Amino acid sequence: MIVCICKRVSDRQIRQMVDEGTSSLRDIRKATGLGTQCGKCVCETRDILRELNGQD
Ligand code: FES
Repeated sequence: MIVCICKRVSDRQIRQMVDEGTSSLRDIRKATGLGTQCGKCVCETRDILRELNGQD
C-alpha cells in the first residue's frame, strides 16, 4: 500500500527500512522524500513506526 502518494513510498518500503536499521521519521524522510510535499502521510508513517519500534 502506498503511504506517501506524493513521493510514492509504500508501507513495505518503510518496514524494510526499519528492518535495515532506519527507525526515525527524519531518516525515512531524508532517504525517500516522504512527507516533504503535502505532509498528509506523516501521521500514518508515525503510526507504522510506532507499531514497529514503539517510537518515531
Ligand atoms: Fe506524502 Fe504528500 S502524501 S507528502
